Amino acid sequence: MNTFILGIESSCDDTSAAVLKDTRILSNVIANQDIHKTYGGVVPELASRSHQQNIIPVVDVALSKAKITKNQLNAIAFTRGPGLLGSLLVGTSFAKSFAMGLGIPIIEIDHLKAHILSHFIDDEEMDRQPKFPFLCLTVSGGHTQIVRVDSPKQMEVIGTSIDDAAGEAFDKAAKIMGLPYPGGPEIDRLAKIGNPNAFSFPKPSMQGLNYSFSGLKTSFLYFLRDQLREDEGFIDKNKADLSASMQSTIIHILMNKLKRAARETGINEIAIAGGVSANSGLRETLRQTADKLGWNIHIPKLQYSTDNAAMIAIAGYFKFLDGDFATQDLTPYSKSRF
Ligand code: KG4
Ligand code: ZN
Repeated sequence: MNTFILGIESSCDDTSAAVLKDTRILSNVIANQDIHKTYGGVVPELASRSHQQNIIPVVDVALSKAKITKNQLNAIAFTRGPGLLGSLLVGTSFAKSFAMGLGIPIIEIDHLKAHILSHFIDDEEMDRQPKFPFLCLTVSGGHTQIVRVDSPKQMEVIGTSIDDAAGEAFDKAAKIMGLPYPGGPEIDRLAKIGNPNAFSFPKPSMQGLNYSFSGLKTSFLYFLRDQLREDEGFIDKNKADLSASMQSTIIHILMNKLKRAARETGINEIAIAGGVSANSGLRETLRQTADKLGWNIHIPKLQYSTDNAAMIAIAGYFKFLDGDFATQDLTPYSKSRF
């Protein structure tokens, strides 16, 4: 018998619902919240209000695109954390009440583990899936981690950022340059026409497999402050070169530790996940490194890189097989527990 899982994702500013038939994707609907663009960043209160408006229509469309009725669902998986509490509460409360009404179990999902498990979504255009054990570089707006993945259940963080995430470095650099939010895709777009060697920024020397991005952000800020004193049009004249140089510095930092992790663990099966894994420069550098070092690499399709509910549903499917269900009294968490 097939299992139909509804996934719900509402950890930040995207409201998403997806339906999976076992591991097979049937629908993945995402409502973005444009309202935050006006403020140059996510406003938590507005995000949770938009989730409230979006959640029912988004679930409705996900079910109809999947061509199933709610009564065919076997379980509802939802993001419990980490993320914005007000946003998580909307998805969590919706999942609990919808499941209670249908008399089906709920499954709590960790957002970061779900990013990693997005590689197991069975989608016609997806590459082959990673083999265990593999290393996953998870790079999102809030987290930067190197994770050793031994099974869908067994994952160990072997490197993490001690301050800002890679996504924050992109977003903050973009904000400093006056680019629209979210900055990552804007920098990616501009970097394509810029010179990555035009400017050089310091790279942190962190112990072990850990990362740090706050120094880079500060040096970028000070560099621009000094340049603007001499020429107030500096940013406008150099946007593309600044973007390309910043992007290549971030990629260099990310890849350095990833290479070290592969060397130290002896694992050549390498995946990337999370919003920053959508970055075209990172994808290309990963491909080149894989050619050189003989890695088997796994790059998610763009719609599974950034936040989506299909990854929540696939993570839910693995827990469903184990009968690992949550109770109605659980509450969301904002900080990573992983
Ligand atoms: O995983 P995600 O969608 O949400 C979180 O879990 O945080 O990641 C969002 C982050 C943002 O910082 C955004 O700027 C970044 O991913 N991002 C990118 C690109 N697309 C999204 N960064 C660089 N290049 C991109 N193409
Ligand atoms: Zn995410």
